[in-house]
Amino acid sequence: MLKLENITVRFSGLVAVDNLNMHVQEKTIHSLIGPNGAGKTTVFNVISGLVKHEGRVIVDGKDITKVPVYKRVNYGLGRSFQNVIIFKYLTVLQNLILGYHSHAQYNHFDEIFSTNNYLKTERKALLKAIEVADILGIKGILGLYAGTLPYGYQKLIDVGRALMSEPKILLLDEPAAGLTEKESDIFKEKILRVKSEDVTVLLVEHDMRMVMDISDRITVLNFGKKIAEGTPAEIVNNEEVVKAYLGSSAKEVKENE
Ligand SMILES: Nc1ncnc2c1ncn2[C@@H]1O[C@H](COP(=O)(O)OP(=O)(O)OP(=O)(O)O)[C@@H](O)[C@H]1O
Ligand SMILES: [Mg+2]
Repeated sequence: MLKLENITVRFSGLVAVDNLNMHVQEKTIHSLIGPNGAGKTTVFNVISGLVKHEGRVIVDGKDITKVPVYKRVNYGLGRSFQNVIIFKYLTVLQNLILGYHSHAQYNHFDEIFSTNNYLKTERKALLKAIEVADILGIKGILGLYAGTLPYGYQKLIDVGRALMSEPKILLLDEPAAGLTEKESDIFKEKILRVKSEDVTVLLVEHDMRMVMDISDRITVLNFGKKIAEGTPAEIVNNEEVVKAYLGSSAKEVKENE
């Protein structure tokens, strides 16, 4: 579903991503982990087209390296951000529908005169929002103002908005950051549900309980370089990974098994 080939990103002297090669298989949850500053968000920015880089990005067999940011959604890319961006004074439903705009096929003429084309698109957006809310279990709060909801829900809305564009691959940057243990467990279930809808998920997350529980595969970055790749069991037992990143949390994960 996603292939990164020889990706290198330089920021004035600093090599943030160093010749990264990575394959994400279709309909899997693939996690990208590593210490702070390892280059994970930068990899997401490469995939979304937000930073200059060397190498190629291939989504579902198509080379999108030169495709501008705003068109990448048409190639099946959806993304949520490390810092939640939702509209507090809009309802949950309105926030979701904003994620649909890239699919909207009408122009101002259609809008002003409420043409059939406009009404059809509006109806489709509404149906899609209800479907997405159903997947995420937030149907009951569609009418509430997003700003009044607990942080965990705001993060879900962010994911929901990305799902509105019907992505083939969803990039999640630290969805569990700032969540309580209970919220993070709920979130885990939602990500599994998204996967069951045949969406491929690429996850950046420091919550190792979540990563080890739901990932099919894990890639580990350290100083921009891939230092390991494998199943959760292979990763917790990899000495280099434990030394560079997991430390005591590897022990904890193993003890919990
Ligand atoms: N726009 C930028 N300009 C200059 N340096 C940057 C820029 N973005 C990131 N960096 C640097 O690149 C490196 C990788 O940063 P990145 O944000 O990708 O790390 P990360 O793995 O996502 O870390 P975290 O877990 O803290 O989110 C860091 O050293 C960071 O300071
Ligand atoms: Mg980051």
